[in-house]
Amino acid sequence: MSGASVGRVRLGLVGVGRIGAMHAHAIADLREQFAARDVDLTLAVTDVAEEHARAVAAEVGATAVPGGAAGLLAAGVDGLVVATGTPTHPELIRAGVEAGVPVFCEKPVAGSVADSLPVLAHVAEHGGTVQIGHQRRFDAGYLEARRRFQAGELGWLHSFRAVTADVSPPPVAFLATSGGLFRDCSVHDFDILRWITGREIVEVYARGSNRGDPAIGEVGDVDTALAVVTLDDGTVGTVTATRYNGAGHDVRLELSGSDASVMVGLDEATALRSTEPGVDFPAGTAHRTFAERFAGAYRNELAAFVEVVLGERDNPCPPDEAVAASRVADAAQASLASGRPERVELG
Ligand SMILES: NC(=O)c1ccc[n+]([C@@H]2O[C@H](COP(=O)([O-])OP(=O)(O)OC[C@H]3O[C@@H](n4cnc5c(N)ncnc54)[C@H](O)[C@@H]3O)[C@@H](O)[C@H]2O)c1
Repeated sequence: MSGASVGRVRLGLVGVGRIGAMHAHAIADLREQFAARDVDLTLAVTDVAEEHARAVAAEVGATAVPGGAAGLLAAGVDGLVVATGTPTHPELIRAGVEAGVPVFCEKPVAGSVADSLPVLAHVAEHGGTVQIGHQRRFDAGYLEARRRFQAGELGWLHSFRAVTADVSPPPVAFLATSGGLFRDCSVHDFDILRWITGREIVEVYARGSNRGDPAIGEVGDVDTALAVVTLDDGTVGTVTATRYNGAGHDVRLELSGSDASVMVGLDEATALRSTEPGVDFPAGTAHRTFAERFAGAYRNELAAFVEVVLGERDNPCPPDEAVAASRVADAAQASLASGRPERVELG
C-alpha cells in the first residue's frame, strides 16, 4: 500500500526525453479517467535539461521541479515514474523505494543482470513496490493471445515467431548505453513470451548483422539480429529485431499451436504487403514508431501504476520478472559474441 490518500495521486516523473515526454502526455490524458473516479491526478516533472522539463510541463499542464528525483521527492509525490536512460535506473529506483513511494521504472531494471540483483535485494529489503515498463502486457492483442493460449484454444504450441522491427535507429549515443539490440528491443519479446506461455526460456542461439550505419557496429551493437529460442518444455521459436524496417514499425507475435494459431499485430496497419493475386490486406498505413504502435498500452500501464499507488491492484510487472527477461537478453548478447547457443541462467 502507498501513502497516497484516496482522492489524490501526485506523480513525479524524472526524465522527459523520448519516452518520458510521451509518459507525461499519457499521464495528462489519464486525468479525466481518474477524475471520473474522484481521483485528482497531478504531475510534476524534472530533467537535468531543466528548460526542456519546463517546456514539457507547460505542454501537459504539469509542474516543473528542479533538482532531479531528489527535488521531486522533497516536493512530495505519491509515486515516482522513472524514464531516464538505463544507467540511472538503479539509483533512481533506490531513491524512490527509500522515500517509501511506489516506483514505475522504464525497462530495464539496470544495464545488466549483475547490476540488477543488488537493486532487487534493496527493493525486497525495503518492502518496496517497483513496476517495470513492459507495456506489451497492457496491449490488447498480447492480452488476447495470452487469454486464448491459457484457455487452451491453441492446443500445445509447436512454435512461435516474435518480431520487433523499428523503422530507423535511435541516436548512436543512445545505442552506446543501451546494452545491445537484444537488451534494448528483444527484451520485450522475451518478457511477453514468458508471460504468455508461463514457461522459462532456457536456451538462445543468436546471430546478428550490420548492414546499416557503421557507427552502430563501432559502438559494439548490431542493427539486426535473430535468436532461436527454446522453452523449458522443448517448444522452439525465433525472436528477430532490426533497426531498419522501412515498411514501418512492425511488432508481431505468431503463436502456432496443435489446434489453432494466432498472430498479435496482424491488422490493417501491419507493415507487410501480400504478393498474392487479389489480396489487398493489409491495406492501411503502417505505424512508424513504438509511440504510435503502443500508445494505448503505455496509457494502460500508467493507469495500472496509478491503481498500484492507490493500493487498488497488485503490481502487474514486478522487477524480478523483468530481470528474468533480462537474463534471456544477456544470454542472447552472449550468444551473439560467442557464436554458440547459450543456456539462460535461471534466477
Ligand atoms: N518501454 C519502451 O517501449 C521503451 C521505449 C523507449 C525507451 N525505453 C526506456 O526508457 C529509458 C529512456 O529512454 P529514452 O529513449 O527516452 O532516453 P532519452 O535519452 O531520450 O531520455 C532520457 C532523459 O532523461 C534525462 N536524464 C538523464 N539522467 C537524468 C537524471 N539523473 N535526472 C533527471 N533527468 C535525467 C535526460 O536529460 C533525457 O531528457 C531507457 O531506459 C529505455 O530503455 C523504453
